[in-house]
Amino acid sequence: KRFLSLPTPGGTSGFQTVGCVGLGLMGHGICQVAATSGVHSKVVAYEKEQRFLDTGRDRIVKSLDKLVEKGKMTMEFANDTLGRIEFTTDLDALKDTDFIVEAIIENMDLKEDLYTKLGELCKPETIFASNTSSLSIGEMAAFSGRPDKFVGVHFFNPVQLMKLVEVIKTDQTDSMVFDKCYKWVEDIGKIPVSCGDTPGFIVNRLLVPSLMQAMAMVDRNDASVKDVDIAMKLGAGHPMGPLHLADYIGLDTCLFIVQGWVEKYPEEPSFFIPQCLVAKVEAGDLGRKTGKGFYEWDGDKCGAPA
Ligand code: 3HC
Repeated sequence: KRFLSLPTPGGTSGFQTVGCVGLGLMGHGICQVAATSGVHSKVVAYEKEQRFLDTGRDRIVKSLDKLVEKGKMTMEFANDTLGRIEFTTDLDALKDTDFIVEAIIENMDLKEDLYTKLGELCKPETIFASNTSSLSIGEMAAFSGRPDKFVGVHFFNPVQLMKLVEVIKTDQTDSMVFDKCYKWVEDIGKIPVSCGDTPGFIVNRLLVPSLMQAMAMVDRNDASVKDVDIAMKLGAGHPMGPLHLADYIGLDTCLFIVQGWVEKYPEEPSFFIPQCLVAKVEAGDLGRKTGKGFYEWDGDKCGAPA
C-alpha cells in the first residue's frame, strides 16, 4: 500500500542520495529497500569486485521478481526501483552521497581501511552507518574521522521482510545525526528502535546466546536438532527453530559473533562456543549458503536434518 502514494523526495531524513557498501546477504537487501522506498533520487551500490557486484545485483533482481510474482509490487515499480540503483566498483561514486550504509564482512581491519578511505573521500556532511551485528560502532566511528556523524543501523535477515532496524548511537554521535538516521529507517518503511553501543545491541544479545544454548543441548544429546526446533516453534511460537535459524543466518556468522564476544568478555557466562558449531564451520557446512549445516538445504528450502 505504501507504494501507492508518491513519497517526498529525501523523505523526512532529508537524505537525497544514499550509498550502500557491500552487497552480500544483508547489503543487497538494504540497497533494495532504500531504492524501493522511492525517497532517494539515487542509491549508489558499491562492491570492490565486479563479480560481487553482479551477485548482489542478481540477488536484488531475484527478490524484486518474487515480490512482483506475489503481487506485492508491479513490474513497473520493480523496474523503477532497479533504475534508481547505480551499481559501481568505484568508491569515488560515493563521495557526494548524503548517507552511507556499510554491510561488508565483519573484519575490523577491512572496516578500518574502508572508513579511513571514506572519511577522506566523502563530503564533510555525509553520515556513515554500519550494519555490523557485533563489532563496536565507536571503534569504526574513530576510523572515519567524523565520530559525531556515525551510527549503527542493524537490519535483520531477510532484510526485505523483517521490519525491525536497531539504530545505535555512541557517546559521540550528534543527536541531530541520530534523529535523521532514525527517521530514515521510518522513511524506508521499517520500525526503528534505539540502542547504545553494546555487544549484540538488543536482538543479538538475546538471540545469539539462545542459539548457542540450543547447540549446547545438541552437544549434550539432550534432544535432537529436529526436536529442539519443533519445541521452540510450537512451544514458544518462534517462526523458525533456533538451529534452523542459525543455518539461515550462516554458521560462520554465528561463530564469528560469539568468538568475538568470548574474547572480549571472557567473564560473561552467556557467551560460549558450542562444539557442534565449531565442527560444522570447520567442515565447511555453513548452513543455507553452502547447502548444508544442521539441515540439508536446497537453495532457500530447508530440508531434513543433516
Ligand atoms: N525477497 C522477497 N521475497 C522473499 C524473500 C526476499 N528476500 N525471502 C523470502 N521471501 C518470500 C518467500 O519466498 C515466501 O514466498 P512464497 O510464499 O511464494 O513461498 C514469502 O516471502 C514468505 O516466506 P515464507 O512463506 O517462508 O513466510 P514465513 O511466514 O515463514 O516468513 C520469515 C519467513 C519472515 C523469514 C520467517 O520465517 C521469520 O521471521 N523467520 C525468522 C527470521 C529471523 O529471526 N531473522 C533474524 C535473524 S538474526 C539477524 O539477522 C541478525 C544478524 O546480525 C545475525
